[in-house]
Amino acid sequence: MKAIILFDCYQRGGKTEQLIDVIGGELVKSGYYVEKGIIVPNADYDFLQEFDVVLIGSPIYNLMLSKNVGTTLAQGNIVKNLEGKKVGLFVICGGPEISADLLYLPQLRFPLLKHDIIAEKAFGMETKDDPESPVQFANAILEKLA
Ligand SMILES: Cc1cc2nc3c(=O)[nH]c(=O)nc-3n(C[C@H](O)[C@H](O)[C@H](O)COP(=O)(O)O)c2cc1C
Repeated sequence: MKAIILFDCYQRGGKTEQLIDVIGGELVKSGYYVEKGIIVPNADYDFLQEFDVVLIGSPIYNLMLSKNVGTTLAQGNIVKNLEGKKVGLFVICGGPEISADLLYLPQLRFPLLKHDIIAEKAFGMETKDDPESPVQFANAILEKLA
């Protein structure tokens, strides 16, 4: 099985990418082939057809998804190319998880309401520095794929 983690961030190597590397590493340990890539608007997302699982992660800046994530989901062909895929969504923010669940995750979920979303997670002030939290998220994804 092939998975790709698409993300954006202001700075490479920050919390978003650290979490992605743990999530991806857990999938690799379970036998998945995993790639990661920066999400950019107006790219041709036909290449997603070669993947079974697509995870999309976005940090939150000023109450919004990272601009590239929001713009990419709002235009272009990514949403069409996610049809029939197992999709996982996550956000990384500085505030509490409960507000992230209400304010930020819906920004990712809304363009994908008709898609097969197998897992969602907000990494906020209580979880983003807990090394177990990305492992648990990866395990939740793997359970849905088993
Ligand atoms: C300019 C800026 C704006 C931010 N705005 C929010 C926000 O509105 N809500 C929130 O919960 N966290 C906010 N944060 C916190 C980030 O989401 C958090 O630090 C996250 O880990 C950033 O990911 P990164 O380390 O990969 O850049 C903001 C951070 C920055 C730098």
